[in-house]
Amino acid sequence: MEINADETSSRGDQDLEKILVTGGQRLDGEVRVSGSKNSALALMAASLCAEGVTTLENVPNIGDIHVMIEMMSKMGCATRWSGEHRLEVEVDTSNLDLKSHSAELVELVQKMRASFTILGPLLARLGEAQVALPGGCAIGTRSVDFHIKGLQAMGAEVYVEHGFVIAKTEKLKGAHIFLDFPSVGATNHLLSTAVLAEGKTIIENAAQEPEISDLARFLSSMGAKIKGAGTHRIEVEGVKRLKPVRHAVIPDRIEAATYAIAGAMTGGNVLVKNVVADHLLPVILKLRESGARVEVEGPTLRLVDNARTTPPLSALRVSMEGRARAVNLTAAPHPGFPTDTHPVFAAMLAVAEGTSVITETVYDRRFRYCSELQRMGANTRVSGQTAVIDGVDRLTGAQVSAPDLRGGAALVLAGLIAQGETEITQLQYIDRGYEAFVQKLLNMGANIERFDTAAILARPALSFA
Ligand code: UD1
Repeated sequence: MEINADETSSRGDQDLEKILVTGGQRLDGEVRVSGSKNSALALMAASLCAEGVTTLENVPNIGDIHVMIEMMSKMGCATRWSGEHRLEVEVDTSNLDLKSHSAELVELVQKMRASFTILGPLLARLGEAQVALPGGCAIGTRSVDFHIKGLQAMGAEVYVEHGFVIAKTEKLKGAHIFLDFPSVGATNHLLSTAVLAEGKTIIENAAQEPEISDLARFLSSMGAKIKGAGTHRIEVEGVKRLKPVRHAVIPDRIEAATYAIAGAMTGGNVLVKNVVADHLLPVILKLRESGARVEVEGPTLRLVDNARTTPPLSALRVSMEGRARAVNLTAAPHPGFPTDTHPVFAAMLAVAEGTSVITETVYDRRFRYCSELQRMGANTRVSGQTAVIDGVDRLTGAQVSAPDLRGGAALVLAGLIAQGETEITQLQYIDRGYEAFVQKLLNMGANIERFDTAAILARPALSFA
């Protein structure tokens, strides 16, 4: 088990930026959910599997995507980003600079763990590749052992030298791989490598997240032969080459959940548009258990995504009357309750009637937002992998600091219901994964404003000291 994958180190000047929320406003209105961060990152890495121009639609305009664009550009891919959420990645292997030890590339990989997953596709295409070892972030190291063991099982020689993971192979061969934990990143990585390996690969105990199914649809339309994506057992029959395609990224279920929870906890009435209802089932059911009214407007299928067809889009109508009821949550791999959503749900439970218990089974340091919530008056006790939250009657605004991406979103949502003003800093975390977060909340009636560094320096009166 590891720390939260949404972490990264802070960035100088941005520490000054802040969001100011004045609580007490019910959210009312509509919000359109952007494309999935985690899916788009996996698809970008997998675009390296084919020569030519891959076009991705519905790509979110967020920090992590721009880190990946920068990294792929520095490696020699031509990338074209349009303001319309369209990204073209042009891969010409003769232009790729795979041996670069540039400090900039190292920094980019260390900023974002997902970038490590370019290693396998590059190896499959070129027989040799290297990527800086991810990790070195502010709160500890992260393991990529499942990724490395999987590549080794497919016949690669993999070793670490000068902080880089170097992989070489004469020819990748299909293998029977067992993941000790259904890791999303390792499943994505090994799937997008196995499609070009010779023969059959089976990934046992694979992650079942909807983003894996999206990747499988993408690779299949490129010509890959994949069965079982979206289940615990994925079978891949390798092919010699793949062709570049155009693909629309699925909606971001974590962003959708954030707005659904925000609507409920403010006693509001919101329409969360552009969602795949199935991907949100654990969150929808937990919201209902806590007293929210959640209606799916449009199609709903079943919990496990069908990797063969593009899932249909729906909208969620979310409202809540009165106070939320306490509920217990266990954050677990899909189809369990998503670990990336539990911090945001906890913000609502902080003012629920009764005592809630949250158990985390994916990461071992995901509760750092709890101490910030305490500054706002929440009654939380964390012990190991469990947080006990005794709902209080009200939160009060305070100065808080985003500890990571989802913890940061949780604090903004807590600010929406707190009495008075809440100031949230360390916005670079939130910017990694939420497109136009403040604007979307503002459109639904939140009393929220973002101050950038220049505005803060120009207005010394806004000190909140
Ligand atoms: C992805 C998501 C992240 C989400 C997480 C779990 C992306 C870009 N990020 O992260 O938002 O919170 O899935 O749903 O898709 N592990 C190992 N060895 C490995 C790989 C993983 O021990 O080689 C451990 C990790 O340390 C962690 C657990 O497995 O404790 C799950 O990690 P994983 O599913 O791989 O998360 P990410 O893919 O990094």
